[in-house]
Amino acid sequence: MFVRCYRGKLSVWAALCVLVLCWFYIFPVYRIPRDKEIVEDVLRQGEQWQKNHTGIDLYRKLLSECCDPRKMFAVTKENSPIGKVLWYDGEFYHSHTVNNDTYPLFVPDNPLPLPLKKCAVVGNGGILRNSKCGRDIDQADFIMRCNLPPLSKEYVEDVGNRTHLVTANPSIIEKRFQNLLLSRKDFVEKMKIYGSSHIYMPAFSMKPGTDLSMRAHYALADSSSNLTVLFANPEFLRTVGKFWKARGVHAKRLSTGLFLVSLALGLCEEVTTYGFWPFSVGLDEQPVRHHYYDNILPYKWFHAMPEEFVQLWHLHKSGVLRVRVGQCPHRRKEV
Ligand SMILES: *[C@@H]1O[C@H](CO)[C@@H](O)[C@H](O)[C@H]1NC(C)=O
Ligand SMILES: *[C@@H]1O[C@H](CO)[C@@H](O)[C@H](O)[C@H]1NC(C)=O
Ligand SMILES: *[C@@H]1O[C@H](CO)[C@@H](O)[C@H](O)[C@H]1NC(C)=O
Ligand SMILES: *[C@@H]1O[C@H](CO)[C@@H](O)[C@H](O)[C@H]1NC(C)=O
Repeated sequence: MFVRCYRGKLSVWAALCVLVLCWFYIFPVYRIPRDKEIVEDVLRQGEQWQKNHTGIDLYRKLLSECCDPRKMFAVTKENSPIGKVLWYDGEFYHSHTVNNDTYPLFVPDNPLPLPLKKCAVVGNGGILRNSKCGRDIDQADFIMRCNLPPLSKEYVEDVGNRTHLVTANPSIIEKRFQNLLLSRKDFVEKMKIYGSSHIYMPAFSMKPGTDLSMRAHYALADSSSNLTVLFANPEFLRTVGKFWKARGVHAKRLSTGLFLVSLALGLCEEVTTYGFWPFSVGLDEQPVRHHYYDNILPYKWFHAMPEEFVQLWHLHKSGVLRVRVGQCPHRRKEV
């Protein structure tokens, strides 16, 4: 009697174990450190940082192998000839076949002045306020920014004003510039703060983005602006997404910032990030606004910002890139 009961219990437990294992196999649970733990770790590390040439070379190699940023980061005439099918990376089973309308809008080949030496990737985090990082940022050889941020006088000291590549989400064209149906001149005027940079648009990620990106291209091209619109290659976005997924970032979609960091790691000899800080308190335990220019929160479940920060921080600690979180030193110390 006892034995039978025991046996019966055992198999129930075994079955439960198998179920739980299956559950974890299908829905893996990853332990992300809590915000407080991350902040404490950042404080513990302090200003200490050492460049790791082995690590830099390794990541450049890994990213070249998976994603080939040199050739693939933008849609070019070379990688997307007429007839090429571009699969949208943000939608299921939607594609665009390159045709006589779209092909002429593509740049001939990779337009970046390779190789790039010092690169600055500037996120828009509120941590940049009063950072005095403007000069540091502007001294980089190649400066990337996210989502058409303001660079007006009041921010220059903290964020700088030079730009070489700036991303633009098509939804900004929709919201801020009325789909470019009315205010093309306004758009062209406002883009002048980005000098002669490349405006990097995910034209083939979501279906409505294609028309908007093409309109942005025409608005700038027709006004003989010095800015060039580059269409992000959906294949590149997809492979970079997979690269980080294999390293523990489980967002539905990577943030623009992590795409730019990946691009920089693949192309630059030295990468420093600024303004990446997805937490609501700073190192001084004071509240931090969401952006340096406003406090509007993003959709909560779309990006996995703390998860992404953990990746950046890991790279910082192993010397592959440098994450600036506090104030920038007034006198530049060479590293
Ligand atoms: C340098 O980078 C490599 C590759 O990421 C890593 O294995 C190594 O531990 C790093 N060295 C230091 C001192 O962090
Ligand atoms: C595209 O344009 C080329 C030359 O401008 C022309 O020869 C070709 O027939 C066009 N193709 C289509 C599908 O319209
Ligand atoms: C950029 O900022 C510097 C000061 O940091 C200023 O001297 C320069 O005129 C600014 N350039 C532009 C194009 O606004
Ligand atoms: C484009 O760049 C050139 C050279 O840098 C400059 O002289 C010109 O004023 C710029 N044009 C516009 C529209 O900004």
